[in-house]
Amino acid sequence: MGKQFYLTTPLYYVNGVPHVGHVYTTVIADAIARFKRLQGQSVCALTGTDEHGLKIERAAREAGLSPQELTDRYAAEFQRTWERLGLKFDAFIRTTEERHAKAVAEFARRIKEKGYIYLGEYSGNYCVSCEAYAPEGEDRCPDCGRPTEFMKEESYFFKLSAFQERLLRFYETHPDFVLPSTRMNEIVSFVRSGLRDVSISRTSFRWGIPLPDDPRHIFYVWFDALTGYLSGVGFGTDEAAFAARWPADVQLIGKDILRFHAVYWPAFLMAAGLEPPRHILVNGWWTVEGEKMSKSRGNFITAEELLAKLPADCIKYFLLREIPIGGDGDFSWEALVNRCNSELANDLGNLANRTLKMIDNYFGGVVPEKSEDEGGDRELIRFSQETVALYREQFERLQVSKALETVWELVAAANRYLVANEPWALARDAAKRGRLGTVLYNTAETIRLIAAMVSPVLPEGAQAIFRQLGLDREVGALSTEDLKWGKLPAGSRLGEIEAVYPRLDLAALRRGGKEEPASPPVEETREGAREEPARISIEDFGKVEMRVGRVVAAERIPKSQKLLKLQVDLGSETRQVVAGIAEAYAPEELPGKLVVVVTNLKPARLMGVESNGMIVAANVAGKPVLATFTEDVPLGTRLT
Ligand code: MSP
Repeated sequence: MGKQFYLTTPLYYVNGVPHVGHVYTTVIADAIARFKRLQGQSVCALTGTDEHGLKIERAAREAGLSPQELTDRYAAEFQRTWERLGLKFDAFIRTTEERHAKAVAEFARRIKEKGYIYLGEYSGNYCVSCEAYAPEGEDRCPDCGRPTEFMKEESYFFKLSAFQERLLRFYETHPDFVLPSTRMNEIVSFVRSGLRDVSISRTSFRWGIPLPDDPRHIFYVWFDALTGYLSGVGFGTDEAAFAARWPADVQLIGKDILRFHAVYWPAFLMAAGLEPPRHILVNGWWTVEGEKMSKSRGNFITAEELLAKLPADCIKYFLLREIPIGGDGDFSWEALVNRCNSELANDLGNLANRTLKMIDNYFGGVVPEKSEDEGGDRELIRFSQETVALYREQFERLQVSKALETVWELVAAANRYLVANEPWALARDAAKRGRLGTVLYNTAETIRLIAAMVSPVLPEGAQAIFRQLGLDREVGALSTEDLKWGKLPAGSRLGEIEAVYPRLDLAALRRGGKEEPASPPVEETREGAREEPARISIEDFGKVEMRVGRVVAAERIPKSQKLLKLQVDLGSETRQVVAGIAEAYAPEELPGKLVVVVTNLKPARLMGVESNGMIVAANVAGKPVLATFTEDVPLGTRLT
């Protein structure tokens, strides 16, 4: 077997349920693994649980469970969560497994054989939460700030001090060992300032793996847990499998556990005669609505809550698009709703929906043949190909947020292409049927490419788009061939067309995501009843609230010549508005258009359909012309 691309998440502590921080790292790992598979690489992605140590032993006692019961419960919870999120791992390691204990013993044996382990005595202030001693004289943990406890014990030590020079040489020859580079610099200066030997065993508790030669001692939990990256892929039990994976290509971690991974870990590996991993990729931390996440503040976002309120794709898209890997981020429901509604539901979802609906209406649901490309077509095709190249380069450099941004530029270009080519107008002229087919084919093919590119991050949406395009393909099994232009077969029949992404409702999410918003009182009014305006004061004008919105969906109202029913995104909410514009605008051409909405009109009912606002238009010889903007304006902005 050739070398696989091997990537790992941290092994999560099982003293609580998975939360947004755990979800984040795991989602990044899944997206990278899927991207690598799309690139044709054979991938092994590992995650797992870190189940030993004093912290777990105490958590079990507090819960009235045995450590094994506690860890069984939470390990299952982590596994279930990743499944529900659609995250695909090839390997899962629990540090309480037998194969892991074997690997730890073997790893320690190799290190000891080289003379890097000795018996000594350790005393100092210990942080139970981080499972680490604080520097001398510190009564608070430098990592989490919690009070430490004094402990004194006989301990086996690892001769970390012997690795200072080797580590520095390694960093120098592998300057991108730790990514991003600011984190690398941090580590280099830490190692330059001098390394002390580290204790790797404990006698103060029992919940762990005993040292084979001296079972009074239990392996220090970090020595134990780091070895999980080896035991999970065959070290000590299946050497051939191990050889096909090690060294790891990318090990994902949060910034709080950098030192363990960038100093101790490569030193342990060097001591055992194994290669260090190729990259340690360090992600930042999420705060929640501007504050550190904590149960006592009541802003603790569990994976369970996210899954109860949102489709998995929305969770992934927000986390990966919102910040570059390495930066810190703030999780807020408002930011999530705005991003998902505007970029997933509007930009991407509507592009797919209106294009496919037009193929359905004008070509009976069969992908049309294309004829000669014109200038604008060639431009779209070239831009699609450039986008694929840039996307691959950025994803390869692990710039996932940028890669998504790049894809969304193509989404915007495809939307512009539709507006410029007006297929709804071409459809009115039988002589232009060939041209109509070309425009719709090109748009549909661009949508297919977009779906293939987003598939590592948004597998559900990408699969839905493929299905609707009539493509019987598993998006998890796509290859670089699928990133080439022109792979959509003309003549194939579309699948059932439906919205790819739901629109999220901020108020409902804040409340708990379950109930429907209470409907406002509805009043009957006459269609088109408007009075001639007299001169008014500025205060009067101030009473009229007009805001910028974007049409996200439009449809005819049965039996009405004039009325269209529109869904308009106002940033934090979506309103249904009935507008008398059907004689001037086809429903297909409206999605994506910026409009002005009078938002504080009393709701009215027109032809039995509720209208909650009014769209502003100029009346040009009896024909409405919508007021819009030539620049991009944030949705919800008030007109003054
Ligand atoms: N068990 C150790 C890792 C051992 S790896 C051999 C551990 N576990 S943890 O469950 O506490 O943390 C796992 C990961 O979650 C860490 O990478 C940590 O940075 C990450 N996060 C925890 N809270 C976080 C946020 N609020 N935001 C982002 N990531 C966060 O450490």
